[in-house]
Order: sequence, then C-alpha cells, then structure tokens
Amino acid sequence: MTFDWNEVWDRHGQSESLDHMEVSGFQSFRDVDTENCAGKLIELCKIKPQDTVLELGCGAGLLGRHLDKYCHYIGSDRSFAMVKKTIQLNHFSALAISANDIVFKDKAIDHVFAFSVFHYFPSYDYAKTAISEMLRVARKSVCVSDIPTESHDGNHLLFDEDFFEGWQISEGLYPREHRRYTARLDLEV
Ligand SMILES: C[S@@+](CC[C@H](N)C(=O)[O-])C[C@H]1O[C@@H](n2cnc3c(N)ncnc32)[C@H](O)[C@@H]1O
Repeated sequence: MTFDWNEVWDRHGQSESLDHMEVSGFQSFRDVDTENCAGKLIELCKIKPQDTVLELGCGAGLLGRHLDKYCHYIGSDRSFAMVKKTIQLNHFSALAISANDIVFKDKAIDHVFAFSVFHYFPSYDYAKTAISEMLRVARKSVCVSDIPTESHDGNHLLFDEDFFEGWQISEGLYPREHRRYTARLDLEV
C-alpha cells in the first residue's frame, strides 16, 4: 500500500500553527531566503507583472506570498484545510484543486508551476496526468521545481530527469541536502 501523504498535508493545514515554514513542512531549514527563491522562479519562467500565475500545491505560500506582490497570482492546493490556512496566513486568493484535475479552461493561465509537490503524488501515472493538465491550462510556461532524485524519506516518489524528457532542466530553487532539480517548458514560440 502506498503511503497516504494527503492525510499528512490535511493535518498540517488543520494545525494551529501560523508559522509558514512549519505548515509547509520545511521546519528543518527555516533560514532559506524564500523571496530570493521566488525571484529565481520569476526570472526562470520570465514572469511579467501583468501575467497570471497558478501554483499547484501552494501549501502555506512560501513562494506564493512573494509572487502575489509581483503578478496576478492564484494559489491552489489539493487539501481544503491547507487552502483555508494559506488564505489566513497570506490573504491571497486560493482554490482547492488537485493537480490531476485543474478546474480552469484551456490556456486560461500564463504560467502554471508546482514547487516541492510531485514527490507527494501517489504514482507516476498521476504525475503524467498532472503534467498534461498543466500543459492544457498554461499559455506561456509550465514549471515543476525542486524535484528530488534521492531522498531521506522512503515514502517520496522520486523522478529522474528522463521523466521530463524534452524539458529544460536546471538546479532546484532551495539549497537542500540532496540534489533537487527544476524542469521547465516554454510554450510560446
Ligand atoms: C511541501 S508543501 C508545498 C510547499 C509550497 N509549494 C510552498 O512553496 O510553500 C506540499 C503541498 O503540496 C500539496 N499537494 C500534495 N499533493 C497534491 C496534489 N495531488 N494536488 C495538489 N496539491 C498537492 C500538499 O497538500 C501540500 O500543501
């Protein structure tokens, strides 16, 4: 039986904590400069202030809180409890959306990204459906970041770079103990 990450994230969303790092599960490296990481994402995906950006799995909004000040950002998360928590913490708009069923029409959003989310998916088939949904909804770019190829946690779903064949690969946004990478596709010709 596969590990139930959904239960873990629902629990994080329901917690009393108002600490972004703790709610997002990053308590062990809380000194990360998340504003700088959001800046790297903006540069990498060529996000402009007038662009719409949808984040899948926004969690407590570690990146979303910075993006929201720069562009038209929409947070989303599979966990309804997490959505409520992130609105409470950040005061941005967020929706309960599962990555394999994105409730937006085709080409509705300029950039769609997921940061530190894919390793919580239940299977590779689920990840493939999520990618096809991201590609359906996005107009300018899709980006999946901080994808682990190895992990301290045996319950993480690991992805080698071949999974993202044809995408542009670069380093992860956060400095981590194990290497994580970013996979990005520009959709504009
Ligand atoms: C490590 S946190 C993400 C951190 C967040 N991106 C940030 O920068 O603060 C992982 C989040 O992914 C969400 N998640 C996991 N599986 C998901 C899925 N299938 N669809 C959408 N969100 C998902 C979890 O509920 C959790 O909030």
